Amino acid sequence: MSNNKPKLLIVEDDPGLQSQLRWHFDQYEVVVAGTREEAIAAVRLHEPPIILQDLGLPPDDEGVDEGFRCIREISTLSPTSKIIVMTGNADYENAVRAVAMGAYDFYQKPVEEETLDLILQRAYHMHSLEEENRIQQEQDITPLNGVIACDPSMLKICRTIEKLAPSEVTCTLTGESGTGKEVLAKALHRLSPRKDNRMVAINCAAVPENLMESELFGYEKGAFTGANKRTLGKVETANGGTLFLDEIGDMPLPLQAKLLRFLQERVIERVGGREEIPVDVRVVCATNKNLQQMVAENTFREDLYYRICEMEIRIPPLRDRQGDKLLLARHFLKKYAEQNNQTITGFTSEATEAIEAYSWPGNIREMENRVKRGVVMCENKQISSEDLGLISEESLNLNLRQVRQNAERAAILRAMSMVEGNISATAKLLGVTRPTLYDLIKKYNIQLPND
Ligand SMILES: Nc1ncnc2c1ncn2[C@@H]1O[C@H](COP(=O)(O)OP(=O)(O)OP(=O)(O)O)[C@@H](O)[C@H]1O
Ligand SMILES: [Mg+2]
Repeated sequence: MSNNKPKLLIVEDDPGLQSQLRWHFDQYEVVVAGTREEAIAAVRLHEPPIILQDLGLPPDDEGVDEGFRCIREISTLSPTSKIIVMTGNADYENAVRAVAMGAYDFYQKPVEEETLDLILQRAYHMHSLEEENRIQQEQDITPLNGVIACDPSMLKICRTIEKLAPSEVTCTLTGESGTGKEVLAKALHRLSPRKDNRMVAINCAAVPENLMESELFGYEKGAFTGANKRTLGKVETANGGTLFLDEIGDMPLPLQAKLLRFLQERVIERVGGREEIPVDVRVVCATNKNLQQMVAENTFREDLYYRICEMEIRIPPLRDRQGDKLLLARHFLKKYAEQNNQTITGFTSEATEAIEAYSWPGNIREMENRVKRGVVMCENKQISSEDLGLISEESLNLNLRQVRQNAERAAILRAMSMVEGNISATAKLLGVTRPTLYDLIKKYNIQLPND
């Protein structure tokens, strides 16, 4: 029966001790092995996080050779398992040798259940910590947590983010929709000394122009009808942390002037207030607009542009990233297959080609959505381009069966027209029998001239 108790393998040949330990450790799912061979088989089958092992195993009950061999084999087979060795009470030297050989800890008999309990709990705790750490490291493909990339220009951006994080430089992330501007802004915050304070985001495109000022700087009671209590704005709430001005290109011009003043003076005035309140925030901006062009068209203030673009980070679209398309596709496949408890092994070769060939106008967001949909639609072990919704004229032509069928139908029609629809003559021309030709005519739904 499988349950959620942690597994514990007990390697002990003494039947009396076996049952004593089995009864005592009922908070674990106990598996017992009496010999080295049984122990190895149990490790393969159960992958126990903790193993309690007697050093004297048959046929060498009185010695330690078999016990040492068992430790060596288990450490190779399952290096993450924690082996706790039990020795005779005068056998300190062998206990230490066992640890040198890869055992995690030792315990000298006679068995005292409470002490053993503590040792096992500690071993189990260590094992879970290491396991968590290992999973974390697997997720860290780039140096930035949560950012998946192998494209050289993306890796360079990751390094830039790491370098900028400790500074107070105002950065602006630009790039098409769905390229990961917010993901990178969050990474910047997490790596900065402000990480324990908040990152407050304001989406400048989503706030109506007449509410923008109070949204940013807050208001005093009575500042306008409905202002029945003092309310802090986003800038003030971000004090000590990071202020993320998303879609900064959509900031209305009058507000651009007020924002610039804040960036220069680092003080705010709440709407309806007279006090100047100093605020300490790191500012990060993002936009999918071309700010330089907006400056040229006088829709974005040039002085504000220079102020926020102390460092501009241009994020390339997914179609220009080398190796990232499949890397991300596989990442999302794994994520959503696990979430849906589905065993999907990968993408069909035609889906792989489609992923590489497609232009991904919605970038990573589109990739995530298509793969998520693919996992749901998938009826086999592999996701097809159809599951991803990536069937194009082009990929149809790459389907060999379809190509063959098209050619076959065209050849039949040509042959028929050459002999004016005479079936025997057509069959002869094509080198097939009359019944075969009839089958093909039926299959391709070809009209006979005299029908
Ligand atoms: N390198 C990446 N690795 C893993 N996931 C990513 C990566 N880049 C983006 N994503 C994911 O793609 C989605 C879109 O990312 P994000 O919101 O950061 O894009 P954006 O550039 O801010 O888009 P928009 O301009 O539309 O606001 C999110 O779900 C995010 O988690
Ligand atoms: Mg965004």
